[in-house]
Amino acid sequence: MKIKRIIFLFLSYAVSVAGVSNSLQYFYTGSSEVPNFPEFVVVGMVNDVQMMHYDSSISRAVPKQDWMKKITDAQYWDTETEGFNNTRQLFRDNIEIAQWRFIQTGGVHIVQLFYGCEWDDEVGNITGYHRYGYDGEDFIVFDLKTETWIAPKEQAFITKLNWDRDADGNTEIKNYLTQECVDWLKKYVNYGRYTLMRTDLPSVSLLQKTPSSPVSCHATGFYPNTGKIVWRKDGEELHEGVNKGEILTNNDGTFQMSADLDLSAIASDDWKRYDCVFQLSGVNKDIITKVDKAVIKTNESNSLSMIIPVIVAVVVLVATAIIAFIIYKKRIDKRPPCPVENHEVHEVI
Ligand SMILES: *[C@@H]1O[C@H](CO)[C@@H](O)[C@H](O)[C@H]1NC(C)=O
Ligand SMILES: *[C@@H]1O[C@H](CO)[C@@H](O)[C@H](O)[C@H]1NC(C)=O
Ligand SMILES: *[C@@H]1O[C@H](CO)[C@@H](O)[C@H](O)[C@H]1NC(C)=O
Repeated sequence: MKIKRIIFLFLSYAVSVAGVSNSLQYFYTGSSEVPNFPEFVVVGMVNDVQMMHYDSSISRAVPKQDWMKKITDAQYWDTETEGFNNTRQLFRDNIEIAQWRFIQTGGVHIVQLFYGCEWDDEVGNITGYHRYGYDGEDFIVFDLKTETWIAPKEQAFITKLNWDRDADGNTEIKNYLTQECVDWLKKYVNYGRYTLMRTDLPSVSLLQKTPSSPVSCHATGFYPNTGKIVWRKDGEELHEGVNKGEILTNNDGTFQMSADLDLSAIASDDWKRYDCVFQLSGVNKDIITKVDKAVIKTNESNSLSMIIPVIVAVVVLVATAIIAFIIYKKRIDKRPPCPVENHEVHEVI
């Protein structure tokens, strides 16, 4: 459970960082002593759609989108695989070093690296990030403006001092985040245009656990992740009694979310005055679902829909696991199209 929570923490972080603009993101996760979970996992995403995957149980980097297959060759994936094979060992070392810094002996630990860039194709705004986490909390974070490192944890302070001294390396990271990363992002968006520029409307259903539970409006299968659910009474948006959930990633690259409304104090004759509206930005067609006792699914009639979030949690855990903190320094090679290969180790202790 602990692991799931940690990974979710970063996942929701990732989703909230990515707005309407385009994003290219990489998540590295190194873990120790987590049963049935690969020790090292890399996930690459364009606009929150996973386009590549590597994990230590298969020891291969593989494309996850057809357009990614088209713009790469076998040599590309060999090179990626080789790089990640090496990085895997670094993450093993990093976990050891981190445990040592935090005075821990064994147990479940996670080292995470999260980096990428965002590019707004309307205003041309570019942002980048490069941050490391340990056990679900920020460990050391790159400050793009000053090209120095911020250490939210005192245990990272030695790392900060060492990395700050490497001005060339820091400039390289900055150049990667603000130039190369964006160049690749533009390329990916261009190649993946059909997939990445599409809009998918979700299927929306009303769910209720027990007759006294809130009614949940659940939308799944939408793309991109700019969906919004509004509960209304007589056509007026409600805020009171509404509990909105986070946007979660489905395994097929679409998204789901739900918003609950507590109707327990409302006479069931009045329920029909309420409706749930799903909106997707850029799409004019709202999906309006009127509250009607007859269409609300309960766990009796549809126990599956209640466990969807759990299934998704597991799928997300395995397919899009995330992250990694660190003690190595990433060196970005100019050679395309591998934003993640060729790391050079900097032991920082
Ligand atoms: C990556 O590691 C796996 C397992 O150790 C090995 O079989 C494979 O040949 C390696 N691939 C490359 C390209 O280094
Ligand atoms: C660029 O976008 C970020 C958020 O993505 C925002 O904080 C920043 O103010 C924007 N900068 C400009 C110049 O618009
Ligand atoms: C539905 O599930 C909840 C717990 O998840 C349980 O308390 C409730 O009795 C179930 N309702 C029905 C009608 O089976």
